[in-house]
Amino acid sequence: MHATLRIIRDEHSSLSAVLRSIGLLISESRRHGLAPDFRVLRAMLFYIDEFPEKVHHTKETALLFPKIRARSAEAAAAIARLDADHARSHRAVLDLQHDLLALEMMSEAADAPERRARFEKEMQAYIAAYLDHIRVEEVEILPLAERVLTTADWAELDAEFMRNRDPLTHREGDDAFRPLFKRILMTLPAPLGLGPAFEALQKSYPDGEPARSFWTSTSGEAAERGTKTVP
Ligand SMILES: [Fe+2]
Ligand SMILES: [Fe+2]
Repeated sequence: MHATLRIIRDEHSSLSAVLRSIGLLISESRRHGLAPDFRVLRAMLFYIDEFPEKVHHTKETALLFPKIRARSAEAAAAIARLDADHARSHRAVLDLQHDLLALEMMSEAADAPERRARFEKEMQAYIAAYLDHIRVEEVEILPLAERVLTTADWAELDAEFMRNRDPLTHREGDDAFRPLFKRILMTLPAPLGLGPAFEALQKSYPDGEPARSFWTSTSGEAAERGTKTVP
């Protein structure tokens, strides 16, 4: 498989895991009558803002999609929709981060329950739209790229994509984001999953660093989970 396709699929896998985990955290905290875990939600939204929105989308829009468009008009409408999603979704995640902060800061306000319901609805809509975006790329766009791009196209793309990988699936280098993912993995309740992300993290430690300890950590942060009341 071309490095570009492997990198995009790896990044989709990490991102899907984080998105699904956010949805589960929200629905489970509501089901148990608890406040959402602001600390871990903040970390996951920051991740989505920091890497997939700023780097993953940029690579697709600036590098991959123009090459496909130059070789085929077959998926022009789908690519236009995906580009439009990319243009919109960074603003959307910034708004969600702000709404989450407002929810946390204004937890005593009279309108906190409505605020929380609105945030949850918008967050779940964002997650569903994002997962559908990934599905279209994987089902329509990547197979089309495999059919129409030339060897020279792939060589150019592979060189560019190898330059900047998702920190969650990066095998070497780019240590800047690693503490953030340790934080996410430490604070996320294990039964909720993040399995693909965990596997990706394990792959990122080829020298055998004991990544599993992140799941079993009993840090102070983890101990704080689920102790707040519903706003
Ligand atoms: Fe995309
Ligand atoms: Fe993508």
